Amino acid sequence: MRIEQGWQPSEIERLVDAENATASRLIFTDETLFRLELQRIFTRTWLYIGHESEIPNKGDYVTRKMGNDPVILVRDQAGRVRVLLNTCTHRGALVCRADAGNARGFTCPYHGWVFGSDGALVATAEDHTYGGKVNFRNLDLRQARVGSYAGLVFATWNHDAPSLDEHLGDARWYLDIMFNRTPNGMTVLGLPHRWTPTNNWKLGPLNFGADGPHAVKVHGPIVDAALAGGMPGALGMIHKALLESPSVTAGPYNGIWTQGPAEMPEWMGHDPALVALFERTLNPQQLALFKRCIASVGTVFPNFSWVFGPISFDMQTDPITNFFAIRVWQPLAVNRTEIWNWFLVDQEASDEVKQRAMRAGVRTFTAGGTFDQDDAEAWHAIQRGCEGEISGTVDVNFQVALNYRDRPIADWPGPGVAYPSNYCEVTEFNNLLQWRAYMTGAR
Ligand code: FES
Ligand SMILES: [Fe+2]
Repeated sequence: MRIEQGWQPSEIERLVDAENATASRLIFTDETLFRLELQRIFTRTWLYIGHESEIPNKGDYVTRKMGNDPVILVRDQAGRVRVLLNTCTHRGALVCRADAGNARGFTCPYHGWVFGSDGALVATAEDHTYGGKVNFRNLDLRQARVGSYAGLVFATWNHDAPSLDEHLGDARWYLDIMFNRTPNGMTVLGLPHRWTPTNNWKLGPLNFGADGPHAVKVHGPIVDAALAGGMPGALGMIHKALLESPSVTAGPYNGIWTQGPAEMPEWMGHDPALVALFERTLNPQQLALFKRCIASVGTVFPNFSWVFGPISFDMQTDPITNFFAIRVWQPLAVNRTEIWNWFLVDQEASDEVKQRAMRAGVRTFTAGGTFDQDDAEAWHAIQRGCEGEISGTVDVNFQVALNYRDRPIADWPGPGVAYPSNYCEVTEFNNLLQWRAYMTGAR
């Protein structure tokens, strides 16, 4: 199937076998496919760039990536959020080298061209040397289309793509539960944590989109040894909950909503003052899904994911607290990914709740977090297990989906389609069906 010069659409089509719920392992290891992903996915669909709370004031900026393109997310002097291509229109140097800051504009360090925070070329430093022969208006920084939903800023280079609202579609109902659940919405806690595991960028979004079965196997020992210290039987309870909880697909979103048993108190780990705000902001169907949720993991295709849930590492001294991590899986090479991870909390949360949320987050989902340690080892093992000449010819298997895909939950109260188990593998595999649609040009 593999040809040296590239991939034909019909060959890419066969890499993901929708009928059998399998995929070729080349999607994790082939250099040419990786290059095509940058072109066909990362320049064509909406990508998560940052949270509005990262740039609250005029002139605030952060530097990010869209695929392999460096960009600046900035609130310009008029208050408008823009995503500028971070490459000088003179010789191509990065015009902004800092991770974050506040500036009226950006001065290229090479020859001193100056751009406003709206991307417009203000001066070349030596304008007179052009003798009036050049139209400087064509030399503004390139800009991506920008859209924002619930404080989440997305951008795309594709001017033919549907609006962000249309693109997210039914996913917005679920995004509202996480990002639009109080009047003021969410805020990021501190700076992003970044680290670079040695695996393909898709393994994270697949796992978060969502791999229920790994939770008990890979994370079970930690749940048993630490988290369940004051809660005998917690692992068995979590196993049952995963088996019986809904997995959802809605537009570009796939994820799970693990529901605690009926005898468990509602709103585990949520501050009562915030719960009062949730109850004023969300509708009854959203509240029903949220109040019994003990873990939720999701992905918006292609590389934006989140995880939240209540946790305590010592039930005697550490009150159960909800952590909430969001992240992007940035493709660096076919076998190298940079994870960018932020912790979020409701704007209205007290300082004490914010501190507890941050502490719960850094103990769980970040470079040194207990759960990320487990996952990193597993994803490293997948990459090593798939890159051999022979091991690369075995398929990746999602065939639990064959048992679940034709029997969605009939009376599901939300939009999209839900399946009756976090073990269903349907939503996880749906990420690859979207991957195939973009890679073959069907989208
Ligand atoms: S490369 Fe930016 S001013 Fe020359
Ligand atoms: Fe995990």
